[in-house]
Amino acid sequence: MISAVGTSILFLASYLFYHYQAGTTRFSGEGLARLFYFVVLTSHTILAMVIVPLVIVTLYLAIRGSFPRHRRIARWTFPLWLYVSVTGIVVYVMLYHLFPTP
Ligand code: HEM
Repeated sequence: MISAVGTSILFLASYLFYHYQAGTTRFSGEGLARLFYFVVLTSHTILAMVIVPLVIVTLYLAIRGSFPRHRRIARWTFPLWLYVSVTGIVVYVMLYHLFPTP
C-alpha cells in the first residue's frame, strides 16, 4: 500500500505538471456518450478530491498502528480509490481513443 501511495504521488505530480503545460481537451462525442462521459468525469473529479485526505488518514492510522480505526475508514477509502482509478482510465480512453478531437 505504501508503494501504491508512492506511485500515486508520482502520478499526481506528473499529471498536474502535464495539465499546467497542455491545458484542457474538449470532448467531441455527442448524445448518450456525451452524457455518460460527463457523469463519469464529474463523479471522478469530485471523488478524486475526496480521496486525497481519506488516503492520508487511512495511511496515517495504519502507520500509527490504530488498526481498528484504520479498518473502519479503509472500507470507504479502498472502494472509492478503486472507483477513481478505474474511472480515470475510462475518461482517458473515451477522450483520446474512442472520441478523439479531429
Ligand atoms: C492508503 C493505504 C491503505 C488502504 C487503502 C488500506 C486498505 C485496507 C482495507 C480495505 C482493509 C480491510 C478492512 C476490512 O476488514 O474491511 C485493511 C486492513 C488492514 N490494513 Fe490497510 N490499507 C492501507 C495501508 C495500510 C498500511 C500502510 C498498513 C501497514 C502498516 C496496513 C495494515 C493493515 C492491517 C494490519 C489490516 C487488518 C486490520 C485488522 O484486521 O484488524 N494498511 N486495509
